[in-house]
Amino acid sequence: MLLTLDRNSDAESVDPAFRRDILSGLAHRPRTTPARWFYDRRGSELFEEITALPEYYPTRTETALLAASCSEIGALTGKGRAVIEFGAGSATKTPHLLSAIAPAAYVPVDISGDFLRESSAVLASRFPGLPVLPLEADFTSPITLPAAVADLPKLGFFPGSTIGNMTPHEAVDLLRAMRASLGEGAMLLIGMDRVKDVDVLVRAYDDAQGITAAFNLNLLTRINRELEGTIPVEAFAHRAIWNDEAARVEMHLEATRNVCFMVDGVVFAMEAGETIHTENSHKYGARDARLLLRAGGWEPAHEWTDADDQFAMLLANAA
Ligand code: TRP
Repeated sequence: MLLTLDRNSDAESVDPAFRRDILSGLAHRPRTTPARWFYDRRGSELFEEITALPEYYPTRTETALLAASCSEIGALTGKGRAVIEFGAGSATKTPHLLSAIAPAAYVPVDISGDFLRESSAVLASRFPGLPVLPLEADFTSPITLPAAVADLPKLGFFPGSTIGNMTPHEAVDLLRAMRASLGEGAMLLIGMDRVKDVDVLVRAYDDAQGITAAFNLNLLTRINRELEGTIPVEAFAHRAIWNDEAARVEMHLEATRNVCFMVDGVVFAMEAGETIHTENSHKYGARDARLLLRAGGWEPAHEWTDADDQFAMLLANAA
């Protein structure tokens, strides 16, 4: 039977959390799937391509901001801190910070061990005398840092406006967990994307080349491959929508006709026009950003933005 040809040859390797999240998310109304499942190998490649798109301003703007504010950041944090990066380090952003503040140690924290080890090796080779101590952990709850950095003052680093992929409620919980993980005297350097012209926002998540569409649709291909799915991928369209009330760009996958499919033996039917909500990217105005930090237990100390106020980096002290 044709289905077996499409099957994951190693069904044992499928993450049980993936199966659980997808089956419950597809059954829920509105249908929603957690964004973490975008990042299989193909998804990670497509995401790299997104960050280089002309319409996708956040990566380039934040990298330029970091490069330009290096010495100011260093003056405010002082030398000798342990830098704790939430998420595996980025080869383009992290070196700017590390060269600016002369840290005593660097601890990247990520749930994906493979990606963490790769990026740690790259950073360690660029900073020969710097102790690099990767930590495989879920940082949405308080984490225990390596004993080697226990007595050092900490600087948390959370770039990429990743905080925006959480709801405000989850974002506050996360900031509080970071505050608990980093301890007294800690500082936090965080990137947040600004509210701005709707066309600019929507284009950043719906580019002319269709890379973001391919990234979103790849989730369906992954479900078909890993969970014995029969989703007709060609019957779905990528949608990026600005939700003004919630101040966020939403990504959806919209059924363009009535569809019926199976995932892991369960039958799902969707009507034309119905969507699967796959991602949120919340945007924060200047006051919103400071309020969010304060609600999360951090007192803003300094802020950098580009000339067009597209993106902000904030430095805050543990309250
Ligand atoms: N946090 C970034 C943002 O919201 C990166 C990101 C996460 C992203 N998921 C995405 C970018 C999906 C494009 C599409 O912009």
